[in-house]
Amino acid sequence: MREVKVDLTGLHFPGAPLVRGELPGPKAKELLAAQQGLESNVFKYPRVIPLVPEEARGATIRDVDGNIFLDFFAGIGVLNFGHSNPQILAAARAQEEKIIHALDFPAPPRVELMRKLKEIAPGELRGHAKVMFGGPSGSDAVEGAIKLAKLCTGRHALLAFSGSYHGQTAGALTLSSGRSYREKHLPLLPEVHFAPYPYCYRCPFKQVPQRCGLLCLNYLAELLRDPYSGLAKPAAIIVEPIQGEGGVVVPPDGFLVELRRLTAEEEIPLIVDEIQTGFGRTGRIFASEHSGITPDFMTLGKALGGVGYPLSGVVYHERWDTVEPGGHMGTFRGHLVAMAAGAAGIDFMLENDLPEHAARLGELLLAELRKLQQEVLQIGEVRGRGLFIGLELVKDRETKEPNPELVKAVQLECFERGLLVWSAGRYGNVVRIMPPLVITEELALKGLEILARALHGLTKRASR
Ligand SMILES: Cc1ncc(COP(=O)(O)O)c(C=O)c1O
Repeated sequence: MREVKVDLTGLHFPGAPLVRGELPGPKAKELLAAQQGLESNVFKYPRVIPLVPEEARGATIRDVDGNIFLDFFAGIGVLNFGHSNPQILAAARAQEEKIIHALDFPAPPRVELMRKLKEIAPGELRGHAKVMFGGPSGSDAVEGAIKLAKLCTGRHALLAFSGSYHGQTAGALTLSSGRSYREKHLPLLPEVHFAPYPYCYRCPFKQVPQRCGLLCLNYLAELLRDPYSGLAKPAAIIVEPIQGEGGVVVPPDGFLVELRRLTAEEEIPLIVDEIQTGFGRTGRIFASEHSGITPDFMTLGKALGGVGYPLSGVVYHERWDTVEPGGHMGTFRGHLVAMAAGAAGIDFMLENDLPEHAARLGELLLAELRKLQQEVLQIGEVRGRGLFIGLELVKDRETKEPNPELVKAVQLECFERGLLVWSAGRYGNVVRIMPPLVITEELALKGLEILARALHGLTKRASR
């Protein structure tokens, strides 16, 4: 493995983590109470981690009371290039001085970002990509991809996978499998089906992990080919190359390759949702590159806006460009500051070879976590790629009974020691580790040490 020499040390607040006293501190308490009184009951993150951020740099966040936290969740994959990255901010500020909004007129940052996306797109999309900007959120990109697929094929049905998450707008929500998100909003889009995702730790076919001959894929092939399966031929199949919300579930080798082969044979467009996995997160610019596949449509969001600006889009092969002018509209399909930041973010990622940095650090963290797994019996599985890592926590390794309570306790314990980690998983029992890719080895290991201490402390307490 090539060692990348990048000096990312100056991007973070020095001295992290630094906890000055009891958390939340006095100013944080005041703002948390204010939020409670003012904001819709819908807010969620501060209910788990009572963080009140004031300023952030690189992989560190300073709260209103001056405590400095290590950030191991990067806004769930938004801040791949680091909080307030000065190089990207400079590009954004320069654009802000010129023009901020221009609908879809071809202002320079719009064209520049599309050119860069075309250059870095995976597989055969490289050099042949078209870009369609949606509204600002990832869900908007998913909506756009659904519309494109329906237009291109003249079909209506859609197929997604169990464990999937594709967003919260009506179409995207229909493709997201979590019952708790969906069931109060039914009916959603008609003719949407789910096939089993190869979640090998909890194999849907109860097979020995990795040695099943890709049963999930065979089952899907049956569904598609059997005229009596009840499934209408889909306009598209949407897949996360590694499931994020579903628990950082890495499919076995060959799954995406075979899925690509099957969808090509059946003439079904494949939408690869890279909203969470894109822009270096998994050790490649896009996670589909690990399998060498070419998506028909690739949805992007989160890190696309460079430094936290909301921006999303669909990148697809020019042969699918059948949408009519105005066939997908939206006032905010082009925020020029976000586009300038996105273009600068891609430059920063390439100049510093962040995917390689993520790959190297990821291997180091995975190795350390596997050692920890030998000491902490509640760690059922350690998995991931690059800086996208999941620790699946269980009550007992034999029964694999999920342990979401332990994940919540770990999050709080880590917070109190100056580390921010988020959760994931169908049962909420996965610790999701996804720091900004600019994190240094030193900071990553510091964070890991805090996580290890929290896990040791909590599991000893639990087994007493
Ligand atoms: C894979 C994937 N797709 C789509 C989305 C939806 O993006 P947004 O929350 O920006 O609407 C997410 C969000 O976490 C995601 O992880």
